[in-house]
Amino acid sequence: MVKLLELNYQIKDIDAVAQQVLDHITSKTILFYGEMGAGKTTLIKSLVKLLGSNDEVSSPTFSIVNDYKVRNESIYHFDLYRINDEEEALNFGFEDYLYTSNWVLIEWPQNAQSLMPDDTNIIEISHKNEDSRSLKLSQKPNINPVKLQKAAKF
Ligand SMILES: Nc1ncnc2c1ncn2[C@@H]1O[C@H](COP(=O)(O)OP(=O)(O)OP(=O)(O)O)[C@@H](O)[C@H]1O
Ligand SMILES: [Mg+2]
Repeated sequence: MVKLLELNYQIKDIDAVAQQVLDHITSKTILFYGEMGAGKTTLIKSLVKLLGSNDEVSSPTFSIVNDYKVRNESIYHFDLYRINDEEEALNFGFEDYLYTSNWVLIEWPQNAQSLMPDDTNIIEISHKNEDSRSLKLSQKPNINPVKLQKAAKF
């Protein structure tokens, strides 16, 4: 794993943290790890806003995926919490969303781990205490350099 960014933050800093994340990412597909209430959706809300979408971000726990519009692109926001395995993800067409040029932000990727592409970035959020969190942004070591160049535009 190649570390791109590591920081601690409080909720008041969320937009600055989201901007830091956008400044350091190398992929438009980002997997969000962290226990319930860690702050995955909260960070995604801020990222979607900073990417320029006015759409309201809500937790797609029941719908599995939300599609926010930004200019001529989509931001696909997945919450795989209610998915039990890879087969369930394949059944709703998960893979059709992955290999496009759109943004893909995935909460609970571990519920369909083997379907996650290699050229992703990974965000791990954990509780430091009640009112602060730690965040680590990293990239898989075998990421394809051509894909990196594509992401570098953003
Ligand atoms: N840095 C922070 N410091 C303190 N509180 C935070 C921080 N980031 C997020 N929170 C709070 O923690 C809660 C996180 O909720 P959120 O829905 O974002 O979690 P989640 O990781 O998406 O959980 P789930 O797995 O259930 O989807 C929110 O109440 C939010 O205000
Ligand atoms: Mg969430």
